[in-house]
Amino acid sequence: MTDLEVPQFDYLDPELRGPRFHERMRELHGESWIAQSPLGYIVLDREAVEFFLRSRKLTFPGMKVAEVFGVTDGPLYEEISRNILNINGEDHRRLRNLVNPALTARAADVYRPAMRGFLEDLTARFTDGGRCELVEDVCKPYPALTIATVMGAPLEDAPRLYDWSNWIQRQFAADLLEQRARIEQAVTEFYDYAHALLEARRPNPGDDLISKLIEARYDGDRLSDVELVNLVLNVLVGGVDTTQSQLAHAVRLLVEHDQWALLAERPELASQAVEEALRYEPITPFTARIALEEVEYGGITFPEGTIVMVSAWNANHDGVEGGFDITAEREHKPFTFGAGIHYCLGANLARAEMQEALAYLPGRMPGLRLDGEPEFGSPNGIYGLERLPLRFGA
Ligand code: HEM
Repeated sequence: MTDLEVPQFDYLDPELRGPRFHERMRELHGESWIAQSPLGYIVLDREAVEFFLRSRKLTFPGMKVAEVFGVTDGPLYEEISRNILNINGEDHRRLRNLVNPALTARAADVYRPAMRGFLEDLTARFTDGGRCELVEDVCKPYPALTIATVMGAPLEDAPRLYDWSNWIQRQFAADLLEQRARIEQAVTEFYDYAHALLEARRPNPGDDLISKLIEARYDGDRLSDVELVNLVLNVLVGGVDTTQSQLAHAVRLLVEHDQWALLAERPELASQAVEEALRYEPITPFTARIALEEVEYGGITFPEGTIVMVSAWNANHDGVEGGFDITAEREHKPFTFGAGIHYCLGANLARAEMQEALAYLPGRMPGLRLDGEPEFGSPNGIYGLERLPLRFGA
């Protein structure tokens, strides 16, 4: 691998966002299936992405990142080492088996009426005025309200859950060191909150995720207390700014590509619109893996300890003709939710949330257009929009 001459890719480049991001990723993929990035290598075609995500010889490098940043004890270390993304083998299988039934497609359907209710309430606050800033007004509160419902937390706690989720999610960002104290605080507060919720729910179970996990904990002894609280934390942290960001991009893409009116006319296309947005602008454009042993791929030897970034963006665009189009039939499923054993636990829930939103919003906000430039976040991490100002109506 050290003999390779491959293009350089700086994913930390601050210019890398919006149209420039697409341009750069296309350019890179035109040159090679692999490039060098500051941390290691990045693989760019569909087959390589699938291989590196599915191979058991590699794992998510969360523990390595913690070590590099000196996070070796304290609540954040506890959280990172209990994060389901950093657990493999039999323990991972057991935890997934316990939590998967609460998040199947059918289980996610149960929350659709609640999702519609949230969308109605949130849009009612601005539809008379004919303008909104979609990120603040809908995309942020909507997934937090949904996750509160799924968890069995009171809806008035949604803003707190949102804040905790956002801080804890920053353990994956480059500014972990500067923000460590604030992240630790969020982890501690959330652990206390989740324990209190568990105690309150235990004598009084419902249909929610926490009640189902309590049953596994106390009736089946298939889960420890610490595992239970961390599973709830993983669902919260995984399920808020992800759906928020993907929904914001989906609406932006529909407006920019003149497909909003089409969706208003044919809301049955909502599901295809969600898939196309996931494919075209994955909010998880990259994830990473670390080799647990020597790995051979494409005639190259990757020594143990090599970090390989995996580009879902390129895999999703690989060999696909044409641009963003919600009527096009696509041959492959997107890699936006990952692949292999760590495939996103919340994919069904996220899809249901976005389908409900894209079936509802176009009819509620006819003639939608930009009311200023969208502000892009950085694709290094969760690739979201900071702002999406919109106008609608006559
Ligand atoms: C559009 C929305 C979402 C996207 C694009 C997304 C993306 C991803 C990706 C790419 C992974 C795998 C990471 C890797 O293997 O390196 C993942 C894992 C995960 N996601 Fe999501 N996610 C979304 C929504 C959600 C929601 C709503 C939840 C919670 C209900 C959730 C919870 C999780 C959890 C717990 C994992 C870890 C699974 C494991 O390690 O087995 N995600 N997600």
